[in-house]
Amino acid sequence: MKYFIVTYGCQMNVHESEKIAGILENLGYSLAQNREEADIIVFNTCAIREGAEDRVFGNVGNLKKLKKKNKNLIIALCGCMTQKEETAQKMLRTFPFVDIIIGTFNLSKLGDYIESVKKGRQFEIWQEGEIDEVLPYKRSSGDNAWVNIMQGCNNFCTYCIVPYVRGREKSRKEENILNEIKNIVSEKKYKKITLLGQNVNSYGKDLNPQVSFAQLLKDICSIEGDFKLSFMTSHPKDLTNEVIDVIASEDKIEKYIHLPAQSGNNRILHLMNRKYTREKYLSIIQKIREKIPSCRITSDFIVGFPSETEEEFEDTYSLIKEVQFDSIFAFMYSPREGTVASKMENQVPENVKNERVNKLLKLEKKIQKETGKR
Ligand code: SAH
Ligand code: SF4
Ligand code: F3S
Repeated sequence: MKYFIVTYGCQMNVHESEKIAGILENLGYSLAQNREEADIIVFNTCAIREGAEDRVFGNVGNLKKLKKKNKNLIIALCGCMTQKEETAQKMLRTFPFVDIIIGTFNLSKLGDYIESVKKGRQFEIWQEGEIDEVLPYKRSSGDNAWVNIMQGCNNFCTYCIVPYVRGREKSRKEENILNEIKNIVSEKKYKKITLLGQNVNSYGKDLNPQVSFAQLLKDICSIEGDFKLSFMTSHPKDLTNEVIDVIASEDKIEKYIHLPAQSGNNRILHLMNRKYTREKYLSIIQKIREKIPSCRITSDFIVGFPSETEEEFEDTYSLIKEVQFDSIFAFMYSPREGTVASKMENQVPENVKNERVNKLLKLEKKIQKETGKR
């Protein structure tokens, strides 16, 4: 019996696919080389932009042929897209050959749904759930081991679907994180450990007693062994001086920060509900550069947020020029149903977003050429 997993979206999903693989291997499945030889195919989906969702719809549609050839094939859909009730219902209607549809909160029950599939289609979306503290993982990211430290997000940036599909912030107990990392280090197969969370800087605020992210980093670094530690993603409003100091002082921590700015214009940042200004962002960058001169810094930007003018876009352009990021991700704003920004007036036409995104990518290339950065 063989399995094949198709993963969309962020590192969080990549790591969750390792969780899915762990569950399937425990049930006796082994990895298939391709979809054709699989007995079960799992699509772990992403809802962050419309493009991601369109790809999933197209590729799930293509599985119909495989199901015709192999009646016993089990097809399962999970992840951020299926967590949205309406999208899940639409998938249930559009794809009668899909056997299992579950959301993000009941993913760890996947084995039970597979057991029950003989009785009929399985469709269940939970509205919330506990964070998985300890689960089997089938790690498959080479010499890097992902470690989830929290799930969910409380920030409600007005463009973003994540808080709706991943729920409120929940931190894993520090003890469980440290034990997982000790195990990883003792396996001696991994050079890198990457901590994952939508907003790692608010780690531990919901724990009792509270543990700060800086403390967690220090405690991980005191684990004996040879490894490099990194983490993502940091929200600028929550990146503390203490965290910057720990990165500067701990040899085990990679000198690298991914710090999404999203925009360089204060009116747009306010509309996005990012809770910092351009000036605040620049002052954080300055602090990082003072304390960790060799630090690589990367960022995310959204162009064409509702009502963004050409001048406001120029502020984003000039911020990137000023900071000289090592690299950036630039995205065209994609309205997500249910978010505040999707209802805002003056949505920016696609061709304008396209022009702006191209300008940023050109600028990135220029900076990389001039500074010799990758
Ligand atoms: N938690 C992370 C981001 C996760 S989403 C953070 O806050 O930094 C990754 C990136 O996708 C975001 O940084 C943002 O640039 C982009 N993104 C999120 N929602 C988007 C949308 N509706 N349209 C376009 N890009 C979006
Ligand atoms: Fe989305 Fe903002 Fe949360 Fe990041 S911090 S996941 S962009 S709501
Ligand atoms: Fe996508 Fe969900 Fe990650 S929406 S970006 S897979 S948290």
